[in-house]
Amino acid sequence: KGEKKSVKAEPGESILRIAQHNGIPLEGACEGGMACATCHVIVGKDFYDKLPEASEAEEDCLDNASNLTETSRLGCQLKVTPELDGIDITIPGTTRNFYVDGHVPK
Ligand code: FES
Repeated sequence: KGEKKSVKAEPGESILRIAQHNGIPLEGACEGGMACATCHVIVGKDFYDKLPEASEAEEDCLDNASNLTETSRLGCQLKVTPELDGIDITIPGTTRNFYVDGHVPK
């Protein structure tokens, strides 16, 4: 929706958990099992090259995401490190929502 939100995180936390702990609607239906791609995020170009490479399993799962970009990753697989301070993450405008009842994970 074009809203920006700055949040604090501890090293080792995943982008998925950080989003969920801060009321940001990132689903994560499979809880990090690389089976749903509902945690699809788009990483800012300035930080994308600082990330560890995606595994083959992550890339296979990302193939199921809508609005895929060159800097797409799974939020459940990205762990925060001090080098990523200030990372810019965007949630795609549409996603394949697995929850049909409006449930928002805590
Ligand atoms: Fe399902 Fe990340 S939570 S792939």
